[in-house]
Amino acid sequence: MKKIVIAIDGYSACGKSTTAKLVAGILGYRYIDTGAMYRAVTLFFLDHHVSLTNPKEIARALAQINISFKVNSKNVTETYLNGLNVEGEIRKMRISEHVSNVSTIKEVRAAMVEQQRRLGKEKAVVMDGRDIGTVVFPHAELKMFMTADVLVRAIRRQRELMERKQLVDLDEVIDNILQRDKIDTTRAESPLQQADDALVMDTTHITIDEQVDEVIRLALARSIQT
Ligand code: DC
Repeated sequence: MKKIVIAIDGYSACGKSTTAKLVAGILGYRYIDTGAMYRAVTLFFLDHHVSLTNPKEIARALAQINISFKVNSKNVTETYLNGLNVEGEIRKMRISEHVSNVSTIKEVRAAMVEQQRRLGKEKAVVMDGRDIGTVVFPHAELKMFMTADVLVRAIRRQRELMERKQLVDLDEVIDNILQRDKIDTTRAESPLQQADDALVMDTTHITIDEQVDEVIRLALARSIQT
């Protein structure tokens, strides 16, 4: 069977990463969470007070950023920023509140896209994000576009935050999701868009297991065909 690239794009909190992670585990593929990369950049920018409107500062900061992923003893992929494990830090609301703005910056996107292409060069990768099927890997063999009802997304995200011991009001989570949807879909640089050849998956009424089964079924079909 051929190794393929699986691109999973869609709105915030639709279950993209959970699905992508499990699919990668089952197929023995590498999982790349591109949202985590934008989150790590945001953490660096906030901690180093980088001005989002100063191209020189942005370029200098980007040159100092090294993002990597490591699989821990529980087989969970964690994000590292300049050698430091930032997995917990990048999931906090303070990052969620700024990440969409940081990811509108052209220079930031160019740097991330270059790294993502390198990471997926050998194929056998599941990558989730907003522009994977449209910009990063426009020739990906399988493209999924995930959507779900906003309330369902907010409840799922709130539960995830709770599991990380962060108690956030549902209203605040809904506002953040709607705000990010707006910025992600309307930005000038590679906005969130459904690729023409992407398959839409509405996860409002389906379980994670059903999402995973469907993506695996499609992936196996594509890796036989291609
Ligand atoms: O998937 P996530 O919620 O962790 O992503 C955080 C933000 O990063 C999201 O609001 C938009 C941005 N992002 C992006 O612009 N392009 C990607 N490929 C992935 C994420």
